[in-house]
Amino acid sequence: MTISERVKNINPSQTLAVTAQALKMKREGKKVISFAAGEPDFNTPENIKKEAISAINEDFTHYTASSGIIELKEAIIGKLKKDNIVEYIPSEIIVSNGAKQCLFNAILTLCNPGDEVLLPIPCWVSYTEQIKFAQAVPIFTNTYQEEAFKLSAAQVEEKISPKTKLLILNSPNNPTGAVYDKEELKKIAQLLLKYNIYCICDEIYEKLIYDNAKHLTIASLNDEVKAKTIIINGVSKSYAMTGWRIGYAAGPEEIISGMSKIQGHSTSNPNSIAQEASVEALLGRQDTIEEMRKAFDERRKYMVERLNKIEGVSCLNPSGAFYAFPNVSDVLKRGIEYKDKKIENSFELSDFILKEAEVALIPGSAFEAEGYLRLSYATSMEDIKEGLDRIEKIFVSKNRPLTR
Ligand SMILES: Cc1ncc(COP(=O)(O)O)c(C=O)c1O
Repeated sequence: MTISERVKNINPSQTLAVTAQALKMKREGKKVISFAAGEPDFNTPENIKKEAISAINEDFTHYTASSGIIELKEAIIGKLKKDNIVEYIPSEIIVSNGAKQCLFNAILTLCNPGDEVLLPIPCWVSYTEQIKFAQAVPIFTNTYQEEAFKLSAAQVEEKISPKTKLLILNSPNNPTGAVYDKEELKKIAQLLLKYNIYCICDEIYEKLIYDNAKHLTIASLNDEVKAKTIIINGVSKSYAMTGWRIGYAAGPEEIISGMSKIQGHSTSNPNSIAQEASVEALLGRQDTIEEMRKAFDERRKYMVERLNKIEGVSCLNPSGAFYAFPNVSDVLKRGIEYKDKKIENSFELSDFILKEAEVALIPGSAFEAEGYLRLSYATSMEDIKEGLDRIEKIFVSKNRPLTR
């Protein structure tokens, strides 16, 4: 056997598979519209780019401390204090190559083989695979559209066992857009303390929230809860900096130091230039976030309204992030015939939409949620209109009558 059992157990990302298929079709000359993107369609703001150019010109191009430069740690501490009302010191902060690496480091640091990790589903694609990589066990807990895809404390308690080590909370949520409020977080926090469970809070979409939603970090509830929490955040989504690969984590010193050990022996430090640019992202002008958020908000409303007009589709108004997550189980139940075969699930449905309408989107199954699709509205209004026209058309012609 050449490949280790650990790697054999990891599933490739369905999100990347759809993106690759869409790119292939584009190369073949097809006018594919993509709702698959997991990143803002905006460019990194000028002030941040300038800072990176200065860093290069000033030869800030060497290795840095493995867990990140002190200037960036201080900027992160300032941000957490101001925005999230929670205080940390530099040894409680690590900067990594994206929030994804922070999550990976945190899960590996906390989990022994066989430990159980509570994972509310639908969930972002990488949590499950990272948990499996650590030889821990993901314990899925369903959240429901009728409950705005939010996990109740009772549901958490039901799944707790002596092996439970960790809960992963993602608010605002990818793919559902759910944002937890203070009362909901308080109840979950009580369980963390009662059962001695850690909580990884992935807050990467913090700045992209809509309507009356307010972001709150569970660590800010009190010091006891803070001692059980690892906050994960980064600059990717808020500052349109996905390619720069800077994320950070804040948590108890012992855990952060474990994460730093892993990082020190795997990727060393995050990119020196991107770290300098991220200092500017956090300390410089913040109005670019609001410009982006407003555009997303307008597209969100339009997309959700259009989706809800398609027969058999029901879509909640997401409170955060930049995804619509329509329920298409009625469409599947009513049946669409494609190439003499009935479409059975969200994967086949998304493939049908890609081939017939040339619109790329992600099947709910990628997020452990059959019967749903994820459409990113981090793309132009023009493409959103055209993409939804195309989807509406194929649903009508293949599965009539579908438009109300
Ligand atoms: C919920 C969630 N967490 C983390 C990440 C990773 O972010 P980063 O680009 O900082 O690694 C993503 C990216 O799609 C995400 O959706």
